[in-house]
Amino acid sequence: MNSAIATSNDFLKLSRKEMQILGYQVMDIIIDHFESVHKKPVVNTAEASELRKKIHESIPIKGVSPQIAIEQLQKNVFSNLMHHDHPRFFAYVPSPNNFVSVMADALASGFNVFAGSYQGASGAAEIELITIDWLRQLCGLPVTAGGLFVSGGTKANLTALAVARHVKLQDKVQNAVIYCSDQTHSSIERVVRILGFDHTQINKLPSDKNFRLRLSDLKCAIAKDRLAGRFPFCIIANAGTTNTGAIDPLYEIADLSSEEGLWLHVDGAYGVGSILCDKGRSLLRGLEFCDSISLDPHKRLFQSYEAGCLLIRNREWLKETFCMRPEYLSDTEPEQEEINFYDHGIQLSRSFRALKLWMSLKVFGLEVFQKAVEQGIMLAELAEKILRESDYLEVVTPAQLGIVTFRYVPKYNFSVQEIDTINHKIVDKMTADGLAFVSSTKLKNCTVLRMCTINPSTTEVDIRKTIQQIEYFGKNIMRSMLAFAICK
Ligand SMILES: Cc1ncc(COP(=O)(O)O)c(C=O)c1O
Repeated sequence: MNSAIATSNDFLKLSRKEMQILGYQVMDIIIDHFESVHKKPVVNTAEASELRKKIHESIPIKGVSPQIAIEQLQKNVFSNLMHHDHPRFFAYVPSPNNFVSVMADALASGFNVFAGSYQGASGAAEIELITIDWLRQLCGLPVTAGGLFVSGGTKANLTALAVARHVKLQDKVQNAVIYCSDQTHSSIERVVRILGFDHTQINKLPSDKNFRLRLSDLKCAIAKDRLAGRFPFCIIANAGTTNTGAIDPLYEIADLSSEEGLWLHVDGAYGVGSILCDKGRSLLRGLEFCDSISLDPHKRLFQSYEAGCLLIRNREWLKETFCMRPEYLSDTEPEQEEINFYDHGIQLSRSFRALKLWMSLKVFGLEVFQKAVEQGIMLAELAEKILRESDYLEVVTPAQLGIVTFRYVPKYNFSVQEIDTINHKIVDKMTADGLAFVSSTKLKNCTVLRMCTINPSTTEVDIRKTIQQIEYFGKNIMRSMLAFAICK
């Protein structure tokens, strides 16, 4: 026998001892991170040119010990992170994951679960079905509904609109029109393009003063398009916009879409997780009437990236849209009761994403999740209250589903552009300082600051310290701008 083949058993293997050493070392690093993240700077970003000098190298022909690789990761990779899980990370959409979720990912990866076919992982398929059904019940969808786990909100939106296109248009996109508000997440525009619609086929309606879709505008736009011989086919409603947490009038939109025979997709990637608590449930009234929902457990349900989810009113629609029967997969065809998730979405090879949410819910229980979600909503309300007491900070939109927006407004006469500059500079200062991090956005052409407070380990002190720091940086920036103006 060829001697190279005889020894192939040794390729890509570690001994039990080596696996233990590496495994325990990795565990220790993760546990240390969980215990110390709150003490780390929220943002740490290396200069690209410096970092490249340190880590770019040609492909290693000979290997090194795992410890050397870990050391390099510790020094240059994990030390240069923006910690989305930090209690004072209030920018964009935080991702306050939990340790059980991390361990579930390790298990899913350790067993290298192929969650595409029932034959590949029947237990995993059942866990995914159960977890999807829990989410279905929470969202109030009928028993005909189903869904699947995907990488995140973008993929959930893509999958939903691919189904809508198939069911409503038989995949013929010509002349079809999609309606949404100007607050809809950019992933929708990307998805619409991927699905073959051009930019004239998405009608982004201006939102009202509360950043919600106006029903009267929507009705008008649909009627106008019909008169012009176009084919209205889908409404995309927001359940928690990224900018302000605004929720479109779901109940009324659901009524309209049913009257008009349109598909109603709700992008709830950010907001739908709020349905776990009483407040969120009452704000999301009407969600139960939509055709599809995107929701992201890696945002509101405390899961590690990547965990997105799509729910669809009739799970058969998924199969009708995605099912293919290539000859090389004929051995995996499911029996009557079985499900091949590869028939229900875009991916064939797919990881066991459902496990992390299932395991977290099993270990902590729904009650703990409910409290954690509620706390995120309450923290934004607390931030709003503190902001309203400030002489320099002005609330722009009130706390909604865990998001509050505001801006620094100096007492002196500064132009709109100068006020925008001060607010941008506050973000820069906070990035450099590392105590806390908020992001900016534009609302009605004004730069505003935005705090998203969904991390349940955030405390009142964290919120107060952050707002104090924003005020402090705002004052300093304003003073230096005044001094500069005087010198000129
Ligand atoms: C409302 C909304 N939809 C979609 C997305 C996209 O989600 P993902 O980044 O998981 O693809 C986001 C991300 O923040 C979002 O807030």
